[in-house]
Amino acid sequence: MHRTHNCGELRKENIGEKVTLCGWTQLKRDKGGMIWIDLRDRYGITQLAVEQKNTPAQLIEIIDKIGREYVIKVLGEVIERYSKNDKIPTGDIEIKIEDITILSKSETPPFTIIDNTDGGDELRMKYRYLDIRRNPVKNALMLRHKVAQEVRKFLDEQDFIEVETPCLIKSTPEGARDFVVPSRMNSGEFYALPQSPQTFKQLLMIAGMDRYFQIVKCFRDEDLRADRQPEFTQIDCEMSFVEQKDILDLFEKLIKKLFKTILNIEIDYNFPQMPYDEAMEKYGNDKPDIRFGMTISDLGENLKGKNFVVFDSAEYIGGIVLPSGSEYSRKQIDELTNFVRTPQIGAKGLVYCKYNTDGTFKSSVDKFYSQADWAVIADKMQAQKGDLILILAGEKELTLHGLSELRLKLANQLGLRPKDKFAPLWVVEFPLLEYDAESQRYHAKHHPFTAPFDEDIELFNTDPGKIRAKAYDLVINGIEIGGGSIRIFDKELQELMFKNLGFSKEEAEAQFGFLMNAFKFGAPPHGGIAFGFDRLVSLFGGSDSIRDYIAFPKNNAGRDVMIESPSEISQNQLNELGLALKETKKTL
Ligand code: AMO
Repeated sequence: MHRTHNCGELRKENIGEKVTLCGWTQLKRDKGGMIWIDLRDRYGITQLAVEQKNTPAQLIEIIDKIGREYVIKVLGEVIERYSKNDKIPTGDIEIKIEDITILSKSETPPFTIIDNTDGGDELRMKYRYLDIRRNPVKNALMLRHKVAQEVRKFLDEQDFIEVETPCLIKSTPEGARDFVVPSRMNSGEFYALPQSPQTFKQLLMIAGMDRYFQIVKCFRDEDLRADRQPEFTQIDCEMSFVEQKDILDLFEKLIKKLFKTILNIEIDYNFPQMPYDEAMEKYGNDKPDIRFGMTISDLGENLKGKNFVVFDSAEYIGGIVLPSGSEYSRKQIDELTNFVRTPQIGAKGLVYCKYNTDGTFKSSVDKFYSQADWAVIADKMQAQKGDLILILAGEKELTLHGLSELRLKLANQLGLRPKDKFAPLWVVEFPLLEYDAESQRYHAKHHPFTAPFDEDIELFNTDPGKIRAKAYDLVINGIEIGGGSIRIFDKELQELMFKNLGFSKEEAEAQFGFLMNAFKFGAPPHGGIAFGFDRLVSLFGGSDSIRDYIAFPKNNAGRDVMIESPSEISQNQLNELGLALKETKKTL
């Protein structure tokens, strides 16, 4: 071992001991006669001290050469510090240097390696190994490790076993695009990277494994956002001989345990359950943030039929109440109007009504609606004097989405979404199928293996869009943390499902024959769930961006700017794979 201790462990009790430490030079201060060095490693910082006049010249010469981020090894005595630093655990002591070795030099780093660094995002990602030396990133990775350990401990105690599933597989239909890998040995054929281990975990149930889990990389070629990465990690789980309730109960326990061990937060109530339809009607969103109210009211019956053509022609009219918003200025309302008109929201405009403190109403559509009309609406929406009513109208889905975004934006402005308050929620009763107007067919809302409600199966013949699924999402603070379902375990029902999804018998056979075949050999009733591990850790860590909790993340264009990937491959490699590119950016 190069060292006797790490840089975070020496205390007053060690005074008088001879120690050897290794680490990186964070800071060197030369204060006329005394030199101090902050030596850093993963465990902390220890101050080194050298009194120039009592130190041999050749040692001073070495110390003079040491720059930022040099890796050094020092031998010295632990002494009490003259001026203590109560901000760090080693702040009572310092090391009186007796010998020092430079183990490795460093160029001047491209940004300062301190908590509040001057390094921009792109630069930090390019030199991520330097970024990880910083406390915020290092602590994020340590938090991730701790959550992983707690998850493993809990699931192991519950008889789950961790089984690895392959990464080079056949496409799994989770709704995103696959990343594909060409096969050299099977020219012209491709593997797909798993969007999740969905079919494998089901096969493990048929194999009798009973309770499976895996902390596993998944790959989805989709547009990136703060809570999406092309490769991300799931806590993937599956259980046999269970119903939905059993799964929700068990995984609620896991989440509560994590809140307790990671954040010391006791959640002593059952997570509420909200049907999908209610989430959509009240929050405009299937992952509602229920830390605050401001729910959506359907105002169609109140606002139609008064000759206001925009409302009369709208499929849906909905509104929310902004508490104490009646004093909003023209400018503030214009800003909200511009917000709802942005392409991501796509509303045509925003109608408002101020419920003044004197009890009168002032709206942007006073020509069409009387004080009495507004009084009824205010009553329905439980608006108080001094509030502001905001209304959107148009195509239903789009308008609900707009109201949801408006609600979240206003809540952010009002500070109603604090990072240290948590509101978990199960969203249940998702529709099984979703109609896609473009392709004119149904898609699985969750995935094609999700079981329908038994009493809804007959709707396959009459109104497939109304079939409810035994599917559930765990939502915390407006973030979809996990999702799962009870699975179809009957070959005939699975075939019916594929048929409704527009697969011909041959297509279903070609894509899922292996699973259908396995169902012939005794499949237990089963179900499962997968949690977005990166999302869970970033929720615990208090950040909106999962990138902060991934050691080597990709940027918004899906690039790893450190290793410069994706990158072109040589003509030789292409030849071996039997591939020809339609266009090459540049010849290698
Ligand atoms: P689902 O597709 O809902 O379910 O994924 C489960 C959870 O994974 C997280 N997640 C992501 N996290 C980061 N980046 C992404 N691109 C990304 N995509 C998804 C979310 C999500 O809730 N096989 C099913 C699970 C099952 O049915 O058991 C599945 O993958 O937090």
